[in-house]
Amino acid sequence: MNYARIAGTGSYLPEKVLTNADLEKMIDTTAEWVVERTGVEERHIAAPGETTCDLSEQAARRALAAAGVEPTDIDLIVLGTTTPDHVFPSVATQLQHRLGCYGGPAFDVQAVCTGFVYALDIANRFIQTGAVRRALVVGADTFTRIINWQDRGTCILFGDGAGAVVLEAASEPGIIDSRLGADGRYKELLWVPAGVSSGYEQTRENAAFVEMRGSEVFKVAVTTLKEIAEQILAANHLTVTDLNWLIPHQANRRILSATAKRLGLPEERMVDCVRTHGNTSAASVPLALDVAVRDGRIQRGDTLLLEGFGGGFTWGAVLLKY
Ligand code: COA
Repeated sequence: MNYARIAGTGSYLPEKVLTNADLEKMIDTTAEWVVERTGVEERHIAAPGETTCDLSEQAARRALAAAGVEPTDIDLIVLGTTTPDHVFPSVATQLQHRLGCYGGPAFDVQAVCTGFVYALDIANRFIQTGAVRRALVVGADTFTRIINWQDRGTCILFGDGAGAVVLEAASEPGIIDSRLGADGRYKELLWVPAGVSSGYEQTRENAAFVEMRGSEVFKVAVTTLKEIAEQILAANHLTVTDLNWLIPHQANRRILSATAKRLGLPEERMVDCVRTHGNTSAASVPLALDVAVRDGRIQRGDTLLLEGFGGGFTWGAVLLKY
């Protein structure tokens, strides 16, 4: 069996920044409330006309440059997103076209905020079987496009962005273990009621925007992020002390802190970009990974645990040596 290793990372954030002071002018809230309850101080918002594929392309080009490979070296593109440019074709095929690396499989994965972790797991399996040698794995969302800017319970949390990694075949890990899960019974805690098959027409007001039961999501997120970390570590005869870095889905500062506390992991060993990114959905984990690689916190040989959690609910964990 082959292993897969991360050869390079990249990310991209749109230029426009929306601060909590800006939000104070839009909804009934205060900057203090938002920081205290979420940890988010600002988030990036895609410009009008700037799409998920645009963000993906920037992140992908940076990951390719970091890995020192050409687009034509890529055999597979797997892209996690909930906010594709079109109903079809997929963002992945359009990204392939932008990069000019034709012929290999390219597809999107829809697992909401767990999209990148799902995509990474899938690409890892393609490499393990020998089906491909090199994959581009992307998490990208323009999530603010499905946000109701009148809903103060959701609009404070989310931002836009993209992150990418180049994953390549290697003789040793790389990715040590990877586990995914889902439980569809939680659909209505975090969802967009409108859709292609159920109809885009507004059956009720704001059906095309994210609806969330925040405090209930919070509880399941913390429990799940703790459990999946413990499960994957135990299965590989490791403990939290063996981890150099935990990179959880950047949902909310309080979710991150509660997860670290329950795991007994010092917060200094958790990558936290919530303050400046907000929750960027599928982009959040690869964005945080790339930030910590580029600022030198994450070094080659470090043991990392990546964790996703999102609508569905979906979840996943990837344990790897960077
Ligand atoms: N500003 C001021 N007050 C607000 C507010 C805002 N932006 N948003 C909600 N409130 C109010 C509510 O209306 C409520 O008022 P009430 O008691 O008069 O009814 C009060 O604050 C408490 O609301 P609640 O929803 O219980 O707050 P909370 O402490 O749970 O915080 C979230 C709300 C959304 C910040 C929090 O639940 C959360 O972060 N949940 C997880 C969401 C998440 O991460 N989702 C993505 C997972 S992938």
